[in-house]
Amino acid sequence: MSIANDRTGSELNIRPLHPALGAEVSGVDLARPLAPETFKALHQAWMDYLVLVFPGQALSDAQQIAFARQFGALEVHHQDIIKSRAAPEIFRVSNVDDDGNLMTAAHPSVAQISLAQRWHTDSSYRPVPSMGSILHGIEVTREGGETWFSNMYKVHDALPAATRQQIEGRKARHDFAHLTTLAPIKPLTEAERQAMPPVWQPMLRRHPVTGRKSLFISPIYNDAIEGMAADDAVALVAELAELAGRDEFIYRHRWSADDIVMWDNRCTMHQVTPYDLAQRRVMHRATIIGDGPVIAG
Ligand code: OGA
Ligand code: MN
Repeated sequence: MSIANDRTGSELNIRPLHPALGAEVSGVDLARPLAPETFKALHQAWMDYLVLVFPGQALSDAQQIAFARQFGALEVHHQDIIKSRAAPEIFRVSNVDDDGNLMTAAHPSVAQISLAQRWHTDSSYRPVPSMGSILHGIEVTREGGETWFSNMYKVHDALPAATRQQIEGRKARHDFAHLTTLAPIKPLTEAERQAMPPVWQPMLRRHPVTGRKSLFISPIYNDAIEGMAADDAVALVAELAELAGRDEFIYRHRWSADDIVMWDNRCTMHQVTPYDLAQRRVMHRATIIGDGPVIAG
């Protein structure tokens, strides 16, 4: 598909990457404000493909933030160890600290970032979860460190009837503090706990733009399901995550430096594959605030 970009005179090229989701977009410079028609075309592509990959976009943090703000206001993370000192809207997905030093596996930030190796969707623990995330690969690994995305519309459509019955009309709890039970991360301060009390969210949701239904889980934050024993809830979330991880539903992104990858948190999950922590990996994320409470589906 090719759409004229009136402002720059260049062409927006959209190339699907996987039958389930993901498209590569070229012909646009994300460092510059988007012309209204380019924004419209990009937004439509985002709704159609769920994950957009923009290669060769060497954006500064300020440019990344400006690009992201065209889609909505940005989250500022509630933990100091994660956000960038220079730009609080930047969430640092990195094994390198703010001063450029490689951290060890035992560092609490690395332990926390490594939890992204399990399926999740960003900020699902907020009363209004994030709309989307925009991640800039600044220093990328040669091996491992791939980011995998799952199309949760398709996962929804593939739910076995008995499973659908189990979750229809139910809510799952999403608790940021659940992370502390999964890895030796830095203990949360009282302020951090109070900033993010647990929330209950429908397990089936309707996308506010496309109107399509998807499965809404976020396994690293889910610690309970309404009306279910804790063990059963954890087992059900694991079973759902396994379904979401089937080849037919996922696009695997292998990073090149200066890729920008943008995903819709309302209808996808993602996880990163393990990598050798002796390699530097520096990724900066801007996170778009959700456009409203989750709509039950
Ligand atoms: C994230 C995330 C995966 C990665 O940025 O939200 O989970 O590739 N990142 O590190
Ligand atoms: Mn994430």
